[in-house]
Amino acid sequence: MPCFGLPLGARASPPMRVRPYRRSDLPKLHQIDQTCFPPGISYSRDELGRFIHMKNARTWVAEEQGEIAGFVVADLQPHGVAHIITVDVVEGRRRIGIGGALMEAAESWARRERCRLLYLETAEDNLAAQEFYEARDYTKVEHIPDYYSPGQAAWVMVKWLGSAPEGWSRRAR
Ligand SMILES: CC(C)(COP(=O)(O)OP(=O)(O)OC[C@H]1O[C@@H](n2cnc3c(N)ncnc32)[C@H](O)[C@@H]1OP(=O)(O)O)[C@@H](O)C(=O)NCCC(=O)NCCS
Repeated sequence: MPCFGLPLGARASPPMRVRPYRRSDLPKLHQIDQTCFPPGISYSRDELGRFIHMKNARTWVAEEQGEIAGFVVADLQPHGVAHIITVDVVEGRRRIGIGGALMEAAESWARRERCRLLYLETAEDNLAAQEFYEARDYTKVEHIPDYYSPGQAAWVMVKWLGSAPEGWSRRAR
């Protein structure tokens, strides 16, 4: 198809797209995870593969300019709860909406699966992630000391899909 308005030979940048995971993505996703998180928080290839291939899990991959630029892994838990296992965006591709588009895919899926609540854990010192999640209406509800390793605490953050139940407090414990 011709690209009208562009010099001959030039190609428009394909738009970012979010698509379901394919098995052949695993090595690249593992490589991205290694660069996104420090040792102790990043997953080994086996761990990441185990999470992605769990029966109740789904993974979406973002491609930008034809390259994998990020991914999100989520799983369904009992009682209408979904869990964001990880969301990773390649460093040079951040702040252009890729993380948001990936979360949108996971949250839409959770809604279709009739979940009422999403939750996740994030490192206490990962302020960027906390701001990212807060911008998407996640709230800190529990601080877990030594969650990742001794001295590496996590925040549990939650988002209600629809209205929060009566008596729900936004105050962190
Ligand atoms: C957290 C992460 C997934 C965000 O991805 P992203 O593609 O940059 O996010 P988006 O561009 O969709 O950002 C949406 C909004 O979140 C907030 N946000 C995102 N990154 C932020 C940062 N570093 N500091 C402050 N706010 C931030 C902003 O409100 C942003 O909107 P804006 O750019 O219009 O201001 C990405 O930084 C990342 O992969 N980090 C390393 C891995 C990680 O920490 N994952 C999450 C923990 S499990």
